[in-house]
Amino acid sequence: MTGKVERPRGTRDFRPEEMAKRRWLETAFRETLESFGYREVMTPIFEHLELFTTKSGPGVLKQIYNFKDKGDRDLTLRPELTAPVMRFFVNELSHEPRPIKLYYFGQCYRYEEPQEGRYREFFQFGLELIGAGGPEADAEAIAAAHACLERAGLRKFILHVGHIGVLRALVHAASEDDGVRGEIFRRIDKDDEGLEDFLAEKRVPERLASAVSFVASHERRLVLGDEEGAPRAVEEYFDEALRAIRGAVAPEKEQEIEASIARLRDTLGYLAALGVRDLRMDLGVARGLDYYTGMVFEFEAPDLGAQKQIGGGGAYTLAELFGGEPTPTVGFGLGFDRILVALEKDSLVPKTAQRALDAFVAPIGEAARPRAFEIAHALRRAGLTVEVDLMRRSPSKNLDRASNIGARYAVLLGAKELEAGTATVKALATGEQRAVKLADLADALKA
Ligand code: HAM
Repeated sequence: MTGKVERPRGTRDFRPEEMAKRRWLETAFRETLESFGYREVMTPIFEHLELFTTKSGPGVLKQIYNFKDKGDRDLTLRPELTAPVMRFFVNELSHEPRPIKLYYFGQCYRYEEPQEGRYREFFQFGLELIGAGGPEADAEAIAAAHACLERAGLRKFILHVGHIGVLRALVHAASEDDGVRGEIFRRIDKDDEGLEDFLAEKRVPERLASAVSFVASHERRLVLGDEEGAPRAVEEYFDEALRAIRGAVAPEKEQEIEASIARLRDTLGYLAALGVRDLRMDLGVARGLDYYTGMVFEFEAPDLGAQKQIGGGGAYTLAELFGGEPTPTVGFGLGFDRILVALEKDSLVPKTAQRALDAFVAPIGEAARPRAFEIAHALRRAGLTVEVDLMRRSPSKNLDRASNIGARYAVLLGAKELEAGTATVKALATGEQRAVKLADLADALKA
């Protein structure tokens, strides 16, 4: 091949400065989830295609990055990590004591139209909490995601909490046809795009259509906040939703919906205890994936424009689909790349994300060259970050290099000084220069 090779569409290369920021964010997220007792797992980048075709939902399937390998197997790059982690759980971890608290960080692949904040290769940071099915577990998953965003210093984000059971009961009552149901969900997920017309066109009874529209309207109320009356606002929202739903579906469905709302109420209580007070009740949260069965939530960063969804998750059951026992599970995936974009927009990534180099060691003259390597080696073993001249540059060029790479000190080694057992240490920020005994060099540079 001649000429340049471009990277594939929708992928990115990361410069060292970007990697430093990414590692900083990764550490912040890791430490947060570990503080909740989650432990990291890793699964393969590619999986059997069927892992995702079983239950991931049409949205993800359309975007799947599948291929055949040389043995004619249908494989795919993973579009997300929930199904892989549940496969892992069913096959190997199901006997671990409950609850099982796993977190992960890694690449995902979706074949979509790239734009700012939407890539074909992107990174998710997430967790799956397996085997604890109560409102406590739902609240912990939301609170852990919330804690990650707070720890990263993100200021402007909105949390929506809903329950897929409510929406699903209504949509299932609206049509027997899976295609129509899917289309209703799609329109709700896409912010109600032509929903009412569609319901009318499909002759959904008016009472039911207005219940669907009410729930889908993303009626949002700030709750649990510091403002007085906030809990009452939630109650009013729940009451209003129940009024809209009553009589629109069969009585047993109505009871199911009431139970879902009661469950949400309990979850909110635990969320408040966990310090998550600023959220919006939103029974219209539809999520793009098919496996959710209970509470669902999404985080958005309003400044990000079209790709403002920075994370989402909820309660689901997938274990039995992969041959395991039915197991209540809840989890989330955070859009690592989008969160970083949101932080950078508000200059919230600390400058210290990149560790500065402590010293640049520059020999003066040929005789000092091997000694420079010995000294660099000794300083690294003492825990310092050190570069040594690899280009046989002149002392002044080496000083330029040392400042360009942001080293704190230059260590200059002349033959005469070495004989005396000293080196010249120059602080690059101030230009101040002094002789330091080689034996004291590491301590001097650490100071
Ligand atoms: P998801 O909503 O499909 O959920 O993806 C989670 C997050 O990944 C999204 O909120 C978004 O920030 C980010 N994301 C998705 N697609 C892209 C893309 N093309 N480019 C950049 N970022 C993207 C899941 O994947 C579920 N597995 C979450 C979950 C875990 N539910 C339960 N456990």
